[in-house]
Amino acid sequence: MDQERVDLPQSEIPVSWYNVLADLPKPLPPPLHPGTGQPLKPEDLAPIFPMALIEQEMSPERWIPIPEEVRALYKIWRPTPLIRAVRLEKALKTSCRIYFKNESVSPAGSHKLNTALAQAYYNKKEGVRRLSTETGAGQWGSSMAFACQLFGLACTIYMVKSSYYQKPYRRSLMHIWGGEVFPSPSDRTASGRAILAADPETPGSLGIAISEAVEDAATHDDTKYTLGSVLNHVILHQSVIGLETKRQLELIGETPDVLIACVGGGSNFGGFSLPFLPEKLANPKLRIIAVEPSACPSLTKGVYAYDYGDTAKLAPLVKMYTLGHTFVPEGIHAGGLRYHGTAPIVAHLANLGVIESKAYTQNAVFEGALQFARTEGFIPAPETSHAIRAAIDEARKNDGKCIVFNYSGHGHFDMSAYDAHLAGDLEDYEHPEEKIAEALTHLPKVG
Ligand SMILES: Cc1ncc(COP(=O)(O)O)c(C=O)c1O
Repeated sequence: MDQERVDLPQSEIPVSWYNVLADLPKPLPPPLHPGTGQPLKPEDLAPIFPMALIEQEMSPERWIPIPEEVRALYKIWRPTPLIRAVRLEKALKTSCRIYFKNESVSPAGSHKLNTALAQAYYNKKEGVRRLSTETGAGQWGSSMAFACQLFGLACTIYMVKSSYYQKPYRRSLMHIWGGEVFPSPSDRTASGRAILAADPETPGSLGIAISEAVEDAATHDDTKYTLGSVLNHVILHQSVIGLETKRQLELIGETPDVLIACVGGGSNFGGFSLPFLPEKLANPKLRIIAVEPSACPSLTKGVYAYDYGDTAKLAPLVKMYTLGHTFVPEGIHAGGLRYHGTAPIVAHLANLGVIESKAYTQNAVFEGALQFARTEGFIPAPETSHAIRAAIDEARKNDGKCIVFNYSGHGHFDMSAYDAHLAGDLEDYEHPEEKIAEALTHLPKVG
């Protein structure tokens, strides 16, 4: 009988994170100082990040040991299972094998805790008292609140205003785990106040919430900032997903033909798929697909350019696919995918043609989610459902391929979105070219 679920013993939780910077076919364009436009120096980041994470951000080492304290906490839910979606395969009448790596089994319900724990650990070790951060859908904020709870740190979360009201139960999670949560833009920061003055009704955006959280850290000595995606060290911590997946596939004698994950800032995509980069470079037939919403199509319609990571231009300039740092997305339900940019590593690989990208509108995504939920039972997060939709479309080719996707989180707090889809109330939205062209006129002049 074919094995439907592959579990690893806890002794096989990876002992090191994999740093893809060591294997990139060409070096990554350097991040630049937002004020001077010069390549960023480690000390430039010191006001907002602890030194250990700054070193990881720039490290050329292929393997970085996972501290024993972090590995011990990974045991709460890791290793995560790799599951064969046999009932979905049957419903699709496909000759393809579909597997998913289930990252939704963490206490906070997504992959985000893999890096939240690591970041809280290094901050605690360097004497930080409080962490500030932003959250879109609330997945990152809740993971960070739990990680701070475990390490005895205070946690302040700026939650994108539209999600703050759309997703009250994620807010409850953050409160349960001891975090304080503010709808962003808020009047607690100069960047928030400036945006509120210009548009009191703004729904907020990740770019704005990042500005508030960075400002909070930069203006308080006992506080540092944490980011749940985009940065190299976040993708590094998320590599546990791909490393475990590789081992699980190996145990059942499978070799993947197609790897798929959704992309917001790029952390679950990077962590899941990039440990396979050496295989991809040796075998160009291995396809790696990044999936994003048509309402926020950074990879499929953005430009590859230096841009600010946040609206108030406090974060470093990085070269990425961007829709412009002034981008304010429509209130689509995949809140975690509404970021104007992409991880520089992911953007670089897309630009080199190593990875592919694809965009879907939200009704198509929810149709995929329903088909998955009605066959496999698990109810995916709207973000995750982008990967599912693409996996279904790949499986429909019926070409006997081995398709593996990352199940980045569950959708138990996203019932209002499911209800809206079932009632036919979800609107599809394609981000218009004119808006992209306008936003790109605000790109910084670099070089
Ligand atoms: C379940 C889930 N998947 C994916 C994402 C997208 O983030 P990233 O691209 O960093 O993985 C989020 C972001 O909040 C999320 O909550």
